Amino acid sequence: MKPPRALSSQVATVEPRVITIRAGNATYEAHVGGGLLTRVGEYAAKIFHARRCAIISDQNVMPRFGPRVMLSLKEFAPTLITVPAGERSKSLEQIGRLCEKMEMVDLGSTSFIVALGGGVVGDLVGFAAAIYHRGIPYIQVPTTLLAQVDSAIGGKTGVNTRDGKNLLGAIHQPALVVADIDTLQTLPERELNQGFAEIIKHAIIADPSLFESLSQPDLAALIARNIEIKAGIVARDERDATGERAILNFGHTVGHAIERVAGYGTLLHGEAISLGIVAACEVSIQRAGFSAEERATVVRFLEKFGLPTKLPPSVSRDAILRAMYSDKKFEHGEVRFVVTPRLGSAYLTSDVTLEDIRRAIANL
Ligand SMILES: NC(=O)c1ccc[n+]([C@@H]2O[C@H](COP(=O)([O-])OP(=O)(O)OC[C@H]3O[C@@H](n4cnc5c(N)ncnc54)[C@H](O)[C@@H]3O)[C@@H](O)[C@H]2O)c1
Ligand SMILES: [Zn+2]
Repeated sequence: MKPPRALSSQVATVEPRVITIRAGNATYEAHVGGGLLTRVGEYAAKIFHARRCAIISDQNVMPRFGPRVMLSLKEFAPTLITVPAGERSKSLEQIGRLCEKMEMVDLGSTSFIVALGGGVVGDLVGFAAAIYHRGIPYIQVPTTLLAQVDSAIGGKTGVNTRDGKNLLGAIHQPALVVADIDTLQTLPERELNQGFAEIIKHAIIADPSLFESLSQPDLAALIARNIEIKAGIVARDERDATGERAILNFGHTVGHAIERVAGYGTLLHGEAISLGIVAACEVSIQRAGFSAEERATVVRFLEKFGLPTKLPPSVSRDAILRAMYSDKKFEHGEVRFVVTPRLGSAYLTSDVTLEDIRRAIANL
């Protein structure tokens, strides 16, 4: 199925949807709708007074959307800072450079920063905001589907190190999220589709009615519902303390290993997660009473968005297993894995064996 590109202009005149998110001590709003880039300043003015700001974005996104956001925020005297596009920008070196630039323009401790872009910019800017002058507020303006339904929500920020993804980071909730669905019009189709992997994950772990929404897509409603789902889970377990937030990792244990083995950039995150979701469904059939029919439903929806459900022959199954063993989740031989007993529900368990996972990967 073609993604619902044409719909955004239809809803552009509709009032945006607003979701209130509570996490730890923070409460903030997420606004979802068309034409919202020009309203970032209006929303910011309701929460910030007499502050200055910097808008941080990447080379692909800044030229497209930077000027509109800058104009909207003009009362905050915005400075624009551009970083290279891509996962490699999520580094400690980049954080250092960003903070130096912010210092050079005298942003200081009473400022805020704006993350304009996909999950890479969101994670990077969120982390810079967490540590600059011991923490300043930031706004998420996500411009990829993945960022709008997932990474901009919940306050996980961070960078990669040589040893792996997201190994340095902080929980720092944004002060505001503005998801303008019109920005998705310029997103390459593969990038758009990978966002649907996280949406399908949300459907599996929390709300099977999302599958129906995927058939009659009102994009703003779909994104808003996904934000509600993620926010609800984060609200109950902001810091991964009870295992509740861990259910958001459904499909990610195997998916991350596949992402690493294929080589970052070969498979997009959502594509690797699609494969991880299929493997997790298989393990759930073995260990949690999930049915083969439900698995078939999941596979059908993944394929509808052009997502892979069969491992490419070039990716070695042994290498995936090795990558999983070296993952910090497998320390001391204890396996902690998220399973689904039925669509709409998931839990973290240590009943799964490495043999179960090996078999699921062998069938992939
Ligand atoms: N913090 C979290 O909770 C969380 C959750 C999931 C993923 N993530 C992180 O998110 C990152 C992936 O995010 P992503 O998939 O958004 O990748 P990304 O930020 O790299 O964006 C993908 C590409 O699309 C371009 N782009 C962005 N918006 C565009 C637009 N509107 N039009 C045209 N091009 C556009 C970008 O420049 C980039 O080249 C990973 O680093 C992952 O670890 C974080
Ligand atoms: Zn993910």
